[in-house]
Amino acid sequence: MQTMAYPPDVSSMRIDSVQRFNDALSHTQRMAGIGTITASVAHELNTPISIIIATCSNMKYEIEDNNLSAEQLLRYIGMIEQSAWRSARITESLRNYSTDGALETAVTDLNPIIEDALQLVQQQFQGEFNIRVETDLQPKLKSIICDHNRIMQVALNLLINARDAIGAGDGVIRVRTWAIEDDDQFAFGFSVCDNGSGISDESMAQLFNAFYTTKPSGHGTGLGLSISRQIIEQHNGEITAVNNPDKGATFTVKLPAMV
Ligand SMILES: Nc1ncnc2c1ncn2[C@@H]1O[C@H](COP(=O)(O)OP(=O)(O)OP(=O)(O)O)[C@@H](O)[C@H]1O
Ligand SMILES: [Mg+2]
Repeated sequence: MQTMAYPPDVSSMRIDSVQRFNDALSHTQRMAGIGTITASVAHELNTPISIIIATCSNMKYEIEDNNLSAEQLLRYIGMIEQSAWRSARITESLRNYSTDGALETAVTDLNPIIEDALQLVQQQFQGEFNIRVETDLQPKLKSIICDHNRIMQVALNLLINARDAIGAGDGVIRVRTWAIEDDDQFAFGFSVCDNGSGISDESMAQLFNAFYTTKPSGHGTGLGLSISRQIIEQHNGEITAVNNPDKGATFTVKLPAMV
């Protein structure tokens, strides 16, 4: 019979498996982030691409019928051009999107970050969900040093959560940016306010926990807010949620001027 000279090092095994779990979790979190962005991009690109396809097919049909005036041709070209520009703007907002762990910081402005996130959802919100998006972006904000794409990902997560909280009813989402005065810790804020279901006491306590979701299976991983909090904490910022006095909820992010 073989005897063991030393007992196995249980403590290091535990650390090993915790490490493996953490690695797997952070991989899943990155994937969930990609999923959110990919789904939005795919959805938003669908409209301009459908317009381009339909317009080309109309043009072919009318050319075959010898029925295409120069005026009509110009109109069709204009529609294709507009849709192609829209597609380019959507893909542009994904530029440099990084899934790597390290922050990629640069001098930027908070408003274009929020506008990029809105760009990815606005068509879907208006068309499919009948949600009105109102913006109140404070003009001429001073520069901020942050990871543009990560902050955009947070804004996108908050917008999609707001959409889901509104559900089938007609909704309004208000997006605001502002400069925070007289505070040593934070310099900028942005908020996403909806008139949806609001947050129950039970959810309020668990919102930011990984895998906490009240959405039907297949509709939410429960990682959106935990990733968002992670990103904001990497920026030494703060993310909070409150129920509105009348209806719905507001998520507020506060960021320092530089990481
Ligand atoms: N604006 C909101 N209004 C009401 N409840 C919200 C709102 N945002 C988040 N929640 C609640 O918090 C839960 C967790 O949100 P989180 O973004 O982390 O995950 P998810 O949206 O369920 O899934 P995922 O973001 O991974 O697709 C949601 O399932 C929902 O119950
Ligand atoms: Mg979410």
